[in-house]
Amino acid sequence: MLESLSSKVHEEERQGEAYAPATVDGRSFRKKFYIESYGCQMNFSDSEIVASILNDNGFGATGNYAEADLVLLNTCSIREKAEQTVRNRLQLFRQVKKTKPGMLIGVLGCMAERLKSKFLEEEKLIDMVVGPDAYRTLPQLIDEAEGGQKAVNVLLSRDETYADIAPVRLDSNGVSAFVSIMRGCNNMCAFCVVPFTRGRERSRDAASIVRECAGLFEQGFREVTLLGQNVDSYYWFDEASDKPVTFAQLLEQVALIDPLLRVRFSTSHPKDITDEVLYTMAKYENICKYIHLPVQSGSTRILQLMNRTYTREWYMAKVDRILEILPDCGLSSDVIAGFCTETEEDHQDTLRVMAHARYDMSYMFFYSERPGTLAARRYADDVPEAVKKRRLDEIVKLQNRLSLEKNREDVGKTYTVLIEGDSRKSSADWRGRNSQNKVVVFPKAGSYQKGDYVRVSIEDCTGATLIGRIVEPKMPLGKK
Ligand code: SAH
Ligand code: SF4
Ligand code: F3S
Repeated sequence: MLESLSSKVHEEERQGEAYAPATVDGRSFRKKFYIESYGCQMNFSDSEIVASILNDNGFGATGNYAEADLVLLNTCSIREKAEQTVRNRLQLFRQVKKTKPGMLIGVLGCMAERLKSKFLEEEKLIDMVVGPDAYRTLPQLIDEAEGGQKAVNVLLSRDETYADIAPVRLDSNGVSAFVSIMRGCNNMCAFCVVPFTRGRERSRDAASIVRECAGLFEQGFREVTLLGQNVDSYYWFDEASDKPVTFAQLLEQVALIDPLLRVRFSTSHPKDITDEVLYTMAKYENICKYIHLPVQSGSTRILQLMNRTYTREWYMAKVDRILEILPDCGLSSDVIAGFCTETEEDHQDTLRVMAHARYDMSYMFFYSERPGTLAARRYADDVPEAVKKRRLDEIVKLQNRLSLEKNREDVGKTYTVLIEGDSRKSSADWRGRNSQNKVVVFPKAGSYQKGDYVRVSIEDCTGATLIGRIVEPKMPLGKK
């Protein structure tokens, strides 16, 4: 099996994170659930919806699967490796279930959607298979499973957005939170399983998004990341004002909640990000100057096969436009090595586009054929594993060099940093991020706390981290 090499932990590679027990409004629960989430941030966000639904139905969260009545795995199908990880994990729960026969095991998310009831035939210990649009029916499905039946609901919906369900923030640092603004994807990139596992694209009621973000700010959160597979195609028709809300307008509404609330978003499809969005970002200091703009490949021929709908020139012009309007904007990307028919020249084109865009960081993968996708049906997965591996290696090396170069350019600059908590290595240091989404580590000084903004002068760096110290005077956000 090929491993995906990545210079940083990729969101799609976040694996098996379990949540600590949640106490909800002092409520007591008759049963306990344990949930592990895999895959992208949207899946992690969905787990918080699931937690909310379960809390309302008498289940409290536990971080210890051994004491759970219900074990849930919220799964990802994006690459074969992601599915393999879940299968390995199920092996462990098989052992646990032997000693605790009453324990129910449910598989949620994209793998549940992809495999449907076939999953129950393949993995006999599973009691429930629940797709991403069916979480409202979890209470009934649990009842069925408790009654000894296998329970399945993998219906996809055209309008489900869980807009009215207040997510239970699990595993949160209390500073930054993720807010889903849309679900599904209509893009049909040839390599991608998401349109099949998540269904049609639909946007969530703008007012409910703004309400959720304002509520988070009230609770002390200082950063929200608006989530969607393709946020720039967000569209909501607001009946009250009889006007449509575009993504740029939504960004503005969230930015206006409070200058102390930072706003981020992910992911932007290069074909859809508009000047309107870029100008809105420029207008508000608290909209972070960072865009994740996945290129996938730098070869126009491969981009066409991938159905990405842009050329290498068009992509590079988009990068130039972003930097024209937002000169200090951070940029990151997703890159796939070894897509069907990729030649050495195509690969060189990818390296050249990366060098042009000078990404601060990238998530980099081997192409992994997914059953049912356009690419699986149309093209042979014909680049040998060793070639994929070598090309990915070159991509990773280039990115590491670019990341280090970009970080070195930041030495000597001063940034506003939102403190997220202790540094991973030492409780004597804080860890936070600047607007460009770079991680900044600096010694604790003064009476600052998690959730405060500080001005940090950058003195040193690695390829992944800026290292600095707090400088006075404290500059409030909102002033340049
Ligand atoms: N909606 C986002 C991406 C979602 S999936 C976007 O359009 O950018 C995250 C990343 O996983 C993709 O950008 C792509 O780089 C990678 N990916 C998706 N399918 C893949 C596959 N079959 N093999 C390897 N990487 C894949
Ligand atoms: Fe997949 Fe493309 Fe949709 Fe992203 S935009 S989720 S890569 S189909
Ligand atoms: Fe994975 Fe589904 Fe997200 S396939 S990347 S969990 S949308």
